[in-house]
Parts: sequence; C-alpha cells; structure tokens
Amino acid sequence: MAILRGATMENFSKVERDIIMQCDGMILSDNNRFKFIYPFATENIDGYINHFNLKNKSLLTTGSSADQAINACFYGCNDITVVDINPYTKFYYYLKRAAIMTLNYDEFLEFFRYKNFPSTFKDNNKVFNSESFDKLKDTLRLLDYESYLIWDELFQTYPKKKIRDRLFEMDEGNNDEIICSNTYLKDEESYLKIRDIIKKLNIKFIIGDLSKVSVAKTYDNIWLSNIGTYYTIDDFKIIFDNIKDNLNNNGKMLVCYLYKTKRNTKYIDDWGPIYNLDETFKVFKDYNLDIINFIGTTGIKFKDNDIKDAILLYEKKVK
Ligand SMILES: C[S@@+](CC[C@H](N)C(=O)[O-])C[C@H]1O[C@@H](n2cnc3c(N)ncnc32)[C@H](O)[C@@H]1O
Repeated sequence: MAILRGATMENFSKVERDIIMQCDGMILSDNNRFKFIYPFATENIDGYINHFNLKNKSLLTTGSSADQAINACFYGCNDITVVDINPYTKFYYYLKRAAIMTLNYDEFLEFFRYKNFPSTFKDNNKVFNSESFDKLKDTLRLLDYESYLIWDELFQTYPKKKIRDRLFEMDEGNNDEIICSNTYLKDEESYLKIRDIIKKLNIKFIIGDLSKVSVAKTYDNIWLSNIGTYYTIDDFKIIFDNIKDNLNNNGKMLVCYLYKTKRNTKYIDDWGPIYNLDETFKVFKDYNLDIINFIGTTGIKFKDNDIKDAILLYEKKVK
C-alpha cells in the first residue's frame, strides 16, 4: 500500500482508507458494486428536468457524479439531499464544486473529462492536472476539509490516470452527450450562472442503501436515477416503498430513467426487468406512473431526435 505523504493509515477514516486501498488496486471486502464514482451523469438530465418544479423547492436525489444535484441547483432548487450507496460521493461533489468556483469552462472540462476527450476514442492526458488542482485547492479546503485532504493526498501519491481508472466508472459519453445532458455545462454563460448559484448551496449527504436508509425529511421532488435498471422489479419495489413516503403531497418522483425506450418499445430479454413496461406498470399499478420521452443520450450522440430516452414519473396528487 502506498505510504501517503506525511500520514499513516491511522490518520484516515474507514472511507478514506478504502479510497486509498482502491487506488492501490486492492479489492475491498464490502462487495459494493457501486464503489466506482460516475464522473458525469449518464442521463440526459436536461431532457427531463423541466418536468419538475425545482425553484425554491426540495430534492432528494441519488447520483455519485453530483450532476443531478448541480443541475437541480441551476434551476433554483435550494434544499438538496444526496443519498448514494457510493461512499465517495461527497468528496467528488466538493471537488466539482470547488472546480466550478475557480476554473473557467474549458479548464473544468479538461480537468474532469477523460474518456473520448478531447476527441472520440482518446483518453484525456490532462485529467486531474496539477495546474488546475493548484488553482482550486484553497477553495476546496475552505468548502470541506476532509475532501481537500483526501484529493490532495491522492493527487500527490498516484498518477492521475490511475486514480481515474481505479476510482471511476468508464461509462462516460462524448462531449456532445455531456454538454447537452447537463444544463450547467451547455455553454459558458450557463457555467457562469451555476458558479454564481452554487456558492450558496448547502447539500446534505447520506451514504446509504435506498432500500433500507431512513430519511427523516420529506421532499417536493425525489429522483432515483436509473437505479431500477440494476435490480429485479421486486427488489426495486422495496427501494420505492422505502422512500415513497418521503415525497410531499403533490410532489413528483423520477422513479426510473430508461434508455432508448418508448411506451410501446418491445422488451428484449437481456435488458433489465424494469424495461418490461407491461410488467412494471402492473407492479406499480397503484401509482399511476406516467412515461415521458425526450431525446436520449444516444440520440444526442448520433444527432437523431427520434432516439428517445424516458423517465417513469410518479406524481403524488392530493387535492
Ligand atoms: C444506478 S447508478 C447509474 C448512473 C446514473 N445513470 C447517473 O447518471 O448517475 C446511479 C447511482 O445510484 C447509486 N446507487 C445504486 N444503487 C443504490 C442503492 N440501492 N442505494 C443508494 N444508491 C444507489 C450508485 O452509486 C450511482 O451513484
């Protein structure tokens, strides 16, 4: 195991020790298949975000990339809780936030983008580059000292590409997909807007499994990303049941994000069970789910407006 600059392993918390061991290439014992951070959301958030009322409202969301939270903040959501099973979510959020506050638009993309950057089939040699980290690290230290300590140690101890390969998912779209899917990255003007707003954002983090976690508050909006595609419908229904009472009356829940799907898309056996929409609508019959389509991430990639992604939406209508 790497001996970290000026520290022994006793100086670190369990989650910090895990992150270091993961960078060392060791297999962690807890069997968490979501221990890789998503560098960016893999969903077209911009495609569905206007279906939610976010201004001065609250949101409970998952998403280790923090993009769900950052995009919601862009639309004026000022009370956000992130629940994610990935224990590194908070560290990554603060790294992104410090970057937004200090780097310009091009520097931000150069620092975080890796796959297919600067062009398709390339891996970015400047990912997590030291020049940009030097610019953002004082801000990071002020925002969250624990996040500063861990990134500072990792960036000084390991080659940047190793950190990116070992801590992060490889699932990262091309520039069009990332930029069109994330409203805060649409253009420089949007980026400057999020810089201004994110200064005031205070996110609460809960590291936990949505099938068991107990969240004390209720929210106007809940987003479950595409978690549903990773579980059997029955297991996903346990997640839904565990969290549904945290939705306020007349609030909306993004139950599941679905790729390349319309209501009449024929189910193919090797897709996640939730894609079997007849079955899914039966299991959720008490909730009157709606399906909403918009250009999908593949549609963005191939510039084809007919390739649609979808969200399953539950609205808790109370008169
Ligand atoms: C299913 S993943 C896929 C990536 C996603 N499409 C996005 O854009 O972020 C979404 C997030 O859900 C988290 N996750 C998966 N199962 C979970 C669970 N049972 N409880 C809490 N978070 C979970 C993962 O750690 C990940 O950050």
